[in-house]
Amino acid sequence: MDTFDGRLAVVTGGGTGMGRELVRQLAAAGCDVAMCDVSEGPMAETTRLVAEDESSGRVSSHLCDVSDEEQVTTFRDTVAAAHETECINLLFNNAGIGGAGSFLTNERAEWERTFDVCWGGVYHCCRAFLPMLVNCDRGAVVNTSSVNGFWASIGPDTPHTAYSAAKFAVKGLTEALIADFRVNAPHLSAHVVMPGHIGTSIALNSTAAHGGVNVSDVRKMLARQDIPTDQLTDEQIEELVAERGRQFRDNAPTSAAEAATVILDGVLAGEWRILVGEDANVLDALVRDDPWSAYEPEFMDRLAEGGHLGVFRE
Ligand SMILES: NC(=O)c1ccc[n+]([C@@H]2O[C@H](COP(=O)([O-])OP(=O)(O)OC[C@H]3O[C@@H](n4cnc5c(N)ncnc54)[C@H](O)[C@@H]3O)[C@@H](O)[C@H]2O)c1
Repeated sequence: MDTFDGRLAVVTGGGTGMGRELVRQLAAAGCDVAMCDVSEGPMAETTRLVAEDESSGRVSSHLCDVSDEEQVTTFRDTVAAAHETECINLLFNNAGIGGAGSFLTNERAEWERTFDVCWGGVYHCCRAFLPMLVNCDRGAVVNTSSVNGFWASIGPDTPHTAYSAAKFAVKGLTEALIADFRVNAPHLSAHVVMPGHIGTSIALNSTAAHGGVNVSDVRKMLARQDIPTDQLTDEQIEELVAERGRQFRDNAPTSAAEAATVILDGVLAGEWRILVGEDANVLDALVRDDPWSAYEPEFMDRLAEGGHLGVFRE
């Protein structure tokens, strides 16, 4: 694909973070966009920003929980009606949440919530929208995985199973689609996005998506980090988690807007693997160089030596 001008893109999770910036930059490039999210307010803000940018792309908003196949099917039908077309050129499977790190101690429902959004969302949207992509003369599927799609960790003492399992699955499907498209739909391309630490509200949004802070889990996690919590009230634990969420958003090496630019440039350049941020590039190189030590403390030391420890151990 050599231009976004005059195309139609679907962006999931367009209400905040990288999704919002993808919508803005696509619309600014003359691309029509159909975005979805789980609540109206953030999408209305994205739409307001697009208008403020005076972009030529037309943007529509759709309420849809991507983990629910029925809602995704309705989203697809509504997009077709709103844009009066049976063809979309770009599918950005961007929506995602974190949380439910432990396979052993987290509630199964909580674990499956993270997995179903991060993997199920990509799966349902590919199933629903691929026929509309096939209908076009040219199209691209852009699936957001993570560095946790090739490295199942956020540090040696913090379980990270649901998100990592989903993100590995997203990366696997996307890579496998490359050959499938070459054989069965050569006018389509597949791209896997693997961001490092990007300055968004994902930590805060994920806590909300799971119905608030799991205080007892947080107490256990802090105990593993030798931080005593017996003097802290539940409210103080909640505030500490919120503060970490704000720090994650405010102290990132790459902004959401910068990330969206890297993603869109990667799609135009035809790159099937799009690493976002210097930290993602360093992690990718370190894991490839010595996969056997990827889950050992010494790996974190190597990450620290490169100055890319960032969010992983602070
Ligand atoms: N921020 C990072 O450091 C980082 C790193 C690697 C990968 N990612 C991935 O990038 C993607 C975008 O995340 P972000 O950092 O911009 O976070 P974000 O929280 O700002 O944006 C995610 C958006 O998805 C929406 N969403 C959540 N669940 C949904 C559902 N069930 N259906 C529809 N929409 C839903 C949220 O409401 C939100 O608007 C996610 O897939 C995330 O896993 C983020």
